[in-house]
Amino acid sequence: MRLQTTRLVLRDMSETDLPNLREILTDPVAMAAYEGPFDDSESQAWLDRNLQRYDEDGFGLWAVELRDAPGRMIGQCGITRQRLEDDDILEVGYLFHRAHWHRGFATEAATASRDWAFRQLDAATIWAKVRDTNVASMNVAIRLGMTVRRRFLTHYRGADMPHLGFAVDR
Ligand SMILES: CC(C)(COP(=O)(O)OP(=O)(O)OC[C@H]1O[C@@H](n2cnc3c(N)ncnc32)[C@H](O)[C@@H]1OP(=O)(O)O)[C@@H](O)C(=O)NCCC(=O)NCCS
Repeated sequence: MRLQTTRLVLRDMSETDLPNLREILTDPVAMAAYEGPFDDSESQAWLDRNLQRYDEDGFGLWAVELRDAPGRMIGQCGITRQRLEDDDILEVGYLFHRAHWHRGFATEAATASRDWAFRQLDAATIWAKVRDTNVASMNVAIRLGMTVRRRFLTHYRGADMPHLGFAVDR
């Protein structure tokens, strides 16, 4: 998979991305909504899960690179199959290295991912499950044209987490 936007390239992740991925997933600030940073084995498991998604679904979270500085993954963005309460949904996910926040990259990558899912998967609706404390993520969802459709609770890493279910229809 390879998608190009004005400033970014989205492509499949591979084992060689693990050091860059680890930098993102071990950052306590970036991982606040995930109840704290991952350790090295959790980062490896995250990568493995994504590689498995490519095999099983043909898509997943992709590596995001700057077009004018290729070779370094600055974030991840893409489409994953998720459960939301009793429903199977398609979600757009975004998680960027802190050095690359506040430039519009997450919105640019997520817009391309959303449109890819509408086009390639014929998806009727794309969701974003956002923890109720994660204002930056809510703002990306709003910039994607999403509205809040549901409130729900998840249990993750020992914590109960109220979430909002944002969605946009094709
Ligand atoms: C969620 C996350 C990706 C959002 O990052 P972000 O930098 O706030 O979002 P964007 O990349 O869309 O950038 C938007 C900002 O860039 C600014 N911007 C600058 N140039 C821009 C441009 N050319 N186009 C659009 N926006 C631009 C916008 O005004 C906005 O400013 P603000 O941060 O002051 O509101 C980031 O906070 C993150 O990685 N968090 C940790 C992981 C996470 O929680 N993921 C979501 C799980 S649900």
